[in-house]
Amino acid sequence: MPGLVIVGAQWGDEGKGKVTDLLAERADVVIRFQGGNNAGHTIVRGDEEFKLHLIPSGILHEGTLCAIGNGVVIDPKILTDEIEGLKRRGVGAANLRISANAHMIMPYHVLLDTAGEARLGSSKIGTTKRGIGPCYADKSARLGIRVQDLLDEKILRKKIMAAMEPKRQLLRPHAKDPDLDLHSMTEEYVTYGHRLEQYIADTARLCWEELDAGRSVLFEGAQGALLDLDHGTYPFVTSSNPIAGAACVGAGVGPTDIDEVWGITKAYTTRVGSGPFPSELEDSVGDRLRENGGEFGTTTGRPRRCGWLDLVALRYAARLNGMTGLVITKLDVLTGIGPLQVAVRYRHPEGATFDEFPYHQSVLHRAQAEYEELPGWEEDISSARSIEDLPEAARDYLDFVADFIGVPVTVVGVGPGRDQVIWVSEQEEKALEAA
Ligand code: IMP
Repeated sequence: MPGLVIVGAQWGDEGKGKVTDLLAERADVVIRFQGGNNAGHTIVRGDEEFKLHLIPSGILHEGTLCAIGNGVVIDPKILTDEIEGLKRRGVGAANLRISANAHMIMPYHVLLDTAGEARLGSSKIGTTKRGIGPCYADKSARLGIRVQDLLDEKILRKKIMAAMEPKRQLLRPHAKDPDLDLHSMTEEYVTYGHRLEQYIADTARLCWEELDAGRSVLFEGAQGALLDLDHGTYPFVTSSNPIAGAACVGAGVGPTDIDEVWGITKAYTTRVGSGPFPSELEDSVGDRLRENGGEFGTTTGRPRRCGWLDLVALRYAARLNGMTGLVITKLDVLTGIGPLQVAVRYRHPEGATFDEFPYHQSVLHRAQAEYEELPGWEEDISSARSIEDLPEAARDYLDFVADFIGVPVTVVGVGPGRDQVIWVSEQEEKALEAA
């Protein structure tokens, strides 16, 4: 896997952290290419649980370099806390690299995010209130503060002043907030600079050198295709592009450096925040998925909205990403919930049906999923380690999804533990070699 991109194929929270963690073991570099601490992944290692928001999960592997690419927005307080938290648990951060070109989340971004949501009232986006949108907005407006600015106090102060000035009107209710004092903000960020300096690097060059040397680079996306700023359910999206194409921009490599793209999907669907969700279940089955799957946000703790697997949206995500492999996580959560439904088309209340994901938001907001029913299974599948270990109904479920999407299943998750996975592609390769 010289250049492999891992992306979410739904509305985020598909279990990318665990997949990255598993693949990181074999990768030389893991680089995150977009998003910020709106993401969160939990990695289970034996009895230990690690919750990370910014640092790629590969940090747990000694031999893997872990980079935060230029496309990520970094809250330096969160990042320094994460580094310290790992160190306290005996995990060093010597392998961490931070792009000098990544933009930083500033206190006024967090305040603007919260104020923006309050202003929208019932039309709010349901953001994570981490300042992600305002930070990317400043980046585009060329008012952003970058990691490299931490290294020069004079430049830092000048840039903060220029960026904060246009926001005074919007932040008037916070005028006396000590967090917004130019002097103390500059001091605070200079301190972060001292703590982070040793990790700051040219991460694009790092990727080129590794790829040139024939080593493998794993590009780790956050969120998911349906939260994409351009192609997702706008405006109920995040402010970056969580699709594979963005790996090039957010890490600094060309499309020809990417060999494979794996999309991660749960065996069902979840969403946090507002916005359309045609296969949502607001009934006892939805509650059961939430309970069985532990569907509460890693970043905000919010209960996630749950529903059946939406194949219309998943096929759309497959095209957007040019997916070469599909990873299906949490198949075990469906055990005992039979018969199962999968969304195969949408129907508008006025009668029109849609086989493809509709581009018009008025259609999408009122679309209801139509389903194909598939048999469920009762057997405990958590100790399955090959496709043959699964009951026939579970195998049929996977086949149906792969056929519908037109992308082969490469990995299946059957429980939260690191070993609770089925490596489909590898087992197939081995079988072919043996034949
Ligand atoms: P923001 O990214 O905080 O601006 O939030 C915009 C939308 O993206 C909201 O609906 C959030 O709930 C959603 N979102 C952002 N990050 C994640 C994630 O990691 N998982 C799931 N949803 C997310």
